[in-house]
Amino acid sequence: MKIISNVEELRREIKALKAEKQGYIGLVPTMGALHKGHLSLIETCRAENEIVIVSVFVNPTQFGPNEDYDKYPRTIEADSKLCEKAGVDFLFAPSPKDIYSEYYFKNKETTLICPPYEVVNKLCGKSRPGHFDGVCTIVAKLFNITKCDRAYFGKKDAQQLFIIKNMVRDLNFDIDIIGCPIIREEDNLAMSSRNTYLNDEARSAALNISKALFKVKELREKGINESATLIDTALTIMQNLEVEYTEIVSLETFENIDIIDEKALMLIAAKVNVNGSKVRLIDNIEL
Ligand code: PAJ
Repeated sequence: MKIISNVEELRREIKALKAEKQGYIGLVPTMGALHKGHLSLIETCRAENEIVIVSVFVNPTQFGPNEDYDKYPRTIEADSKLCEKAGVDFLFAPSPKDIYSEYYFKNKETTLICPPYEVVNKLCGKSRPGHFDGVCTIVAKLFNITKCDRAYFGKKDAQQLFIIKNMVRDLNFDIDIIGCPIIREEDNLAMSSRNTYLNDEARSAALNISKALFKVKELREKGINESATLIDTALTIMQNLEVEYTEIVSLETFENIDIIDEKALMLIAAKVNVNGSKVRLIDNIEL
């Protein structure tokens, strides 16, 4: 495995390996602090492609001014060991200066990809203005840098996956986007790099997010199809948390639905207290 931070060097190395191996290039974009959720994406990518690239980049343009950009966990040594073990060909770990131009650092602005308002002004996008512009921009840059054929994203970030699929359709990227299942801890907490912020108390409080989702799925399987009833049930279970949103949307359009008569998704974002500060967690389940 080669660890590369420079864009031109990565391009040269990919070209050389592609000439040798032929076949498909798979990309797994991440912000690092890799866990089993990320690794499942990497394993699927490894199984389906000749060349596997993992990027680790905490992307400044997707963080708001009061978010956790500075304290986001950076564990590149551990990440590189995990990638090596998983059979990754290239670990692309650039610094912001490798990725964004001098103009960006001087003027705090860059060319951005802005997904449609209706899609971003809800769920995570509502409380994180500009977040998905930053996500789409870095993902598009990674697509252009790697010239990948396939890219792997987790269903954990369901709105992100939906928006990226739309971007690929709208901008004619010749890339297959593959959505991978949510990987959970044994007690069902969805794996997340931000779980490292949780102490024992916060962690057990956070369990009510997945508990609510699984209860709602159970009720849905028993035939309950009114979103309002299912949302109330979830909110009752999450009384100990500061819930940012609990919504049910169509899996196909991401529009909110009142009566579930198609494939749907319940999505939750909630904050847990950790020593006076708050950790924001997201999770979802297909209904
Ligand atoms: P990050 O949060 O590091 O996640 C990288 C990828 O891993 C995303 O596609 C995410 O959905 C997936 N993932 C995280 N936890 C998962 C879990 N428990 N099960 C399955 N997949 C999981 O998402 C980002 O980074 C960034 O926004 C990025 C796309 C890299 C752009 O900067």
